[in-house]
Amino acid sequence: MTSSITVAQHLLLERVLTIEIVRVTERAAVSAARLRGHGKSKASDQAAVDAMRRELNKLPIDGTVVIGEGEMDEAPMLFIGEKVGNKSGPKVDIAVDPLEGTTLCAKNMPGAIATLAMADAGTLLHAPDCYMQKIAIGPGYPKGTVDLDAPTEENILNLAKAKGVKPSEITAILLDRPRHGDMIEAIRKVGGAVALISDGDVAGVIHCAEPKTGIDIYFGSGGAPEGVLAAAALRCIGGQMQTRLVIDTEELRERTLKMGIKDAKKKYEIEDMVKGDCLFAATGVTTGPMLGGVKFGKHFIETDTVVMRSVTGTVRRITAEHRQFEKFHLD
Ligand code: FBP
Repeated sequence: MTSSITVAQHLLLERVLTIEIVRVTERAAVSAARLRGHGKSKASDQAAVDAMRRELNKLPIDGTVVIGEGEMDEAPMLFIGEKVGNKSGPKVDIAVDPLEGTTLCAKNMPGAIATLAMADAGTLLHAPDCYMQKIAIGPGYPKGTVDLDAPTEENILNLAKAKGVKPSEITAILLDRPRHGDMIEAIRKVGGAVALISDGDVAGVIHCAEPKTGIDIYFGSGGAPEGVLAAAALRCIGGQMQTRLVIDTEELRERTLKMGIKDAKKKYEIEDMVKGDCLFAATGVTTGPMLGGVKFGKHFIETDTVVMRSVTGTVRRITAEHRQFEKFHLD
């Protein structure tokens, strides 16, 4: 997180920001959760965006949104290129998804989260809002155990071998989409198990690095912004991930070029998507396998957040009780 500040100040700020970004995802999650189950995906997303933007602007950073709600002309807030923060601190790139799983929130289904990643300016991939092919596994495997371009069956067999288990003991997670039909068939053909999620593949990728989930590998295509956020999390907790943007129209090709991506077919490793140290935070909106959802109690609002820092690999789980209800709405 570079700027004119000294290295010592920089390190201190980064530690402080680790906790500060928790406030940002907490507020976004609470705002979205108020509309949980009301069938209003746009309104809950907007509520999360408003809250996240308000909180980001209080932080001692000179930030630029590189993954946001869309291009400036289509998203009035947290658009790509928007400056956030009070400008008193380091220059940083910010990737946000104020409500990841808008449908999950609208239907009050498990796994909606508010999430963001922060890193030194110029180190996060500026990915357009398009699809991205992704493959990910958790930490502890030799590099190259799986490969985005290898046949699905081969990836399952190689992962099983590296884990020292039968292919039938490997569980792959995928978004439940018709486009993944062939992959699902291939996984099952070699004996692997499939876990399908209706939405929310930031958490889907992170599950591969959380042994308690029983998920070994993520396959398939999902949003590119979500891919960069997941890569930031894996940069903190370990694991392997490879991705490629799905640039399938001329309009998208031009947009990608404008964003500085010359090689549309490039295969990205985590280090290409997140080139340096980063922070990652996510707060549960609805209860899911990774995080508890927001609880509105009589005396306090409870939030559940995970925050990670790649410098140390520390993962903090923060359950917060917020008592100043009015303040929570307004500040
Ligand atoms: P939204 O919160 O923007 O609705 O995204 C949810 C999500 O499931 C992501 O987690 C995932 O990357 C993407 O949508 C997949 O896109 P699609 O629904 O078009 O397959």
